[in-house]
Amino acid sequence: MTIAPAQRTGSTAWTDARLILALEEVVETELNRHLKVAKEWMPHEFIPWSQGRDFDGVLGGEAWELEQSRVTPLGRISLVVNLLTEDNLPSYHHEIATMFGREGAWGTWVHRWTAEEGRHGIALRDYLLTTRAVDPVALERARMDHMSAGFESDNSHSMLHSVAYVAFQELATRISHRNTGHFAGDPLCEQLLAKIANDENLHMVFYRNLLKAALEIAPDLAMQAVRDVVTDFRMPGHGMPGFERSAAQIAIGGIYNLRIHHDDVLQPVLRHLKVMEIGGLGPAGLQAQQELGLFLDGLDAQATKFDERQAALLARRAANAARKAG
Ligand SMILES: [Fe+2]
Ligand SMILES: [Fe+2]
Repeated sequence: MTIAPAQRTGSTAWTDARLILALEEVVETELNRHLKVAKEWMPHEFIPWSQGRDFDGVLGGEAWELEQSRVTPLGRISLVVNLLTEDNLPSYHHEIATMFGREGAWGTWVHRWTAEEGRHGIALRDYLLTTRAVDPVALERARMDHMSAGFESDNSHSMLHSVAYVAFQELATRISHRNTGHFAGDPLCEQLLAKIANDENLHMVFYRNLLKAALEIAPDLAMQAVRDVVTDFRMPGHGMPGFERSAAQIAIGGIYNLRIHHDDVLQPVLRHLKVMEIGGLGPAGLQAQQELGLFLDGLDAQATKFDERQAALLARRAANAARKAG
C-alpha cells in the first residue's frame, strides 16, 4: 500500500480531496475483494408469483384488505420502514457520488453499490405486493412523501464522517433486515430478507475496511469522525412519515433497539477496528477516544434501562392477553 504516512503529511494537512486520493488504492483492493465474494443472485426467484392477483382499479381485481396479509403486525411495520429506506436510493446515490466522486475505483464502487442496493427495493416491493402483505395504496403514498422530501446526509461536510457513518449504518441495515425476517412470520419473507441482509453485510465490510485504512493514515481525524457519528447516529429513514411511532414498535418488538444497536452494531465494528486500543493519538484524537468510551458506557446503561422497560411491557401484554383468553 503506497499511502502517504500521517507523519509526513501531518493531520492538519488532510483535506477531503487528499483523503480520497490517499484511499484510492484501498478502495480498489476492497472493490476487487467485494466483486470476488459477492455472488450474483436473482430477486425474482424469491417472489411467490403464483400467489399474486390483480388489484382493484384499472384491472378491476380485488382491493387490498388487512385479512389478506399473512405477515405479523410488527412485520408489516418494519417491512414498510425497510422498503421506504431502500426506496430513497436516488438521494443516497447523489450523496455518495457527490462525496466520493464518479472517477476511478471510487466511481466503480459508487455505481456497483447503487446497483446492488437497487435490487433490495425491487425485491421487497415485489414480495409485499405479490403476497398482499401491506396496503399498496398507503405504501405508494408513503413512498411519494418520503422520496419527495429527499435525503440529506448528516455527514456531507466530511468524507471521514461519511465513511464512518456508512460502516455502522450498513451493519444496522443488515441487522434490521435480518430481524425483520425473523419476526415477519413468513418463511419466504425471512429467506428474502436474509439474502438482502447478506448484501448489506458485504457493504459493511467494504466500508469498515476503508475506515480501518483511514484510522491508519489519519488516526486523529478518523477517531474524531468515529466519535461524532457514533454519538449522533440516526437511521437513514428517520425522515419518513410516522418514523418515530414505527421505530418505537420496532424497538419493543426486538427488531432494532438500543441494546441491539450497542451490542450488534456499534461494538462489533469498534472491536474489529480496535478503536478503543489505538495508541499514538494526538490530543484531539485521544479526547475523541475518551469521549467515545464514555458515550458507549452511557449507551450500555441506557440500553439496560430499555431492556427492563421492554421486559415489563411484554409481561404486561402477555398478562392482558392471558386475561382476555381466560
Ligand atoms: Fe439495501
Ligand atoms: Fe447496503
